[in-house]
Amino acid sequence: MSSRPFTIRISSQKGGVGKTTVSVNLAAALSAIGMRVLLIDFDFINPSLGFHLGLQNSNSGVRSVLMGKSALKSNAVVIHAATGMHVLPGEMHAQTHTPTKEQLATLFGQIEKSGYDIVIVDTPPGFLPEENLKAFGEALIITTPETSATISAARLANHYDKIGLEHILVVNKFKNKRYELHAREMEEVYRGKISATLPDDETIPISVAEHVPAYTTNPHAPFSRAIKSLADRYAVKLGFAGKNSPKQEGVLSKIIFAIRKILQGR
Ligand SMILES: Nc1ncnc2c1ncn2[C@@H]1O[C@H](COP(=O)(O)OP(=O)(O)O)[C@@H](O)[C@H]1O
Ligand SMILES: [Mg+2]
Repeated sequence: MSSRPFTIRISSQKGGVGKTTVSVNLAAALSAIGMRVLLIDFDFINPSLGFHLGLQNSNSGVRSVLMGKSALKSNAVVIHAATGMHVLPGEMHAQTHTPTKEQLATLFGQIEKSGYDIVIVDTPPGFLPEENLKAFGEALIITTPETSATISAARLANHYDKIGLEHILVVNKFKNKRYELHAREMEEVYRGKISATLPDDETIPISVAEHVPAYTTNPHAPFSRAIKSLADRYAVKLGFAGKNSPKQEGVLSKIIFAIRKILQGR
């Protein structure tokens, strides 16, 4: 049995900074490396992963697992054809849903035994109740290069420090303009290093409209390249670097096949 998956909370204090965009594209980049990825929509107020990935019609998701109506792997997870990643989408409901402690324990218990290498959790803006956060290995805090967003990110970081949750800071929608905060200024406010800077990139709104991750359709776009570096950081951290790349496997098996043919022909 494989070990417990590494679970990342994608978070921010402010809405609209790019949590869902980063969740979807990071998951796509990690899948392309060959990792077994589960992407979960934990935004019960405005679930939008399904919209980003063209899975709006799925009628089972995180809510039915929390309610005990579906089991995570057997009937709730959807396989995203274009990337191969597994997705537990949110469900649009008239009433918002605040899961109980027991419901969360059921969900995270199933995640622990799921066999995934990494679990990316897209969350609503703001804080989550503390017992919720214990399930995460790390928080990826997203900010934009603006004062208010950076101060909010630092407050979230402070909260994570208090409860002992590790975190990294990622800057999104970077335009390289003079009116933006400088990296040094953001690092001073956050009191730590920036782990990745993701550029403002037109491929993002286009990909959201087309319901396919930008990383999948435009792997060489500036945003996709930056996401790839972030994915590589996790590959190194989790011991996946240079391992299991589907492309490498394909080339290697072709070479082995060709050598065997030559030897057999002798
Ligand atoms: N790097 C980027 N470049 C351009 N547009 C972006 C970028 N990141 C996010 N966006 C746009 O910003 C909007 C909000 O992004 P979203 O991921 O939904 O934020 P959140 O989940 O934090 O509310 C979306 O319309 C998306 O297309
Ligand atoms: Mg979102």
